[in-house]
Amino acid sequence: MHSILSRINNASAFLSSCMMALLLAISLSSFILTESPTGQVAISSIKVVSSHARRYSSKKQDLAFVHFNLTADLTPLFHWNTKQLFLYLEAEYENSKGVKNEVVIWDRIVRRKEDANIKFAGKNSYMFRDISTTFKNSASANYTLKYNIMPYVGLLTYGEAGKTTEEIAFPATQSRL
Ligand SMILES: *[C@@H]1O[C@H](CO)[C@@H](O)[C@H](O)[C@H]1NC(C)=O
Ligand SMILES: *[C@@H]1O[C@H](CO)[C@@H](O)[C@H](O)[C@H]1NC(C)=O
Repeated sequence: MHSILSRINNASAFLSSCMMALLLAISLSSFILTESPTGQVAISSIKVVSSHARRYSSKKQDLAFVHFNLTADLTPLFHWNTKQLFLYLEAEYENSKGVKNEVVIWDRIVRRKEDANIKFAGKNSYMFRDISTTFKNSASANYTLKYNIMPYVGLLTYGEAGKTTEEIAFPATQSRL
């Protein structure tokens, strides 16, 4: 009786370590097999307007409106261990206080390989403002298209699919139309 139980125990311990090894192999192989996707990001215009921070508030704050277009072929990222992709456009810049900021201004979830050929033209879907309330004296920004791969097994992986070719300056603030 004792020996049967301990055998079952041993067997299940063996099976679960096989399972662990298999899962590890899967996550490693998908990590190694992943090819880099290709993409391009172009900023067509940026407008900075001064706006009230909140309704009924007298404090003013700069809001940036970034018009951009992008193309990306993310199909190489879809393999048997890809559950979905999280794609986002991130602005990286240093504000007037010398603080480096990374702000996500647009994102998209891609669930199927058929939808992984991305073409988008439009403007930021998330509010883009600086914590110092102004973009005045902020250096220019880089815009980078980044992704996370959510696998069925293993860890999230991060990557870059495209980047603006040069830093783009913030224009002077306009007052609200
Ligand atoms: C963005 O749009 C411009 C003008 O329509 C076009 O020339 C450029 O190729 C586009 N870039 C991308 C990355 O789609
Ligand atoms: C923009 O990208 C360039 C090249 O990768 C880098 O040297 C520079 O520091 C970046 N600028 C900002 C504000 O992140």
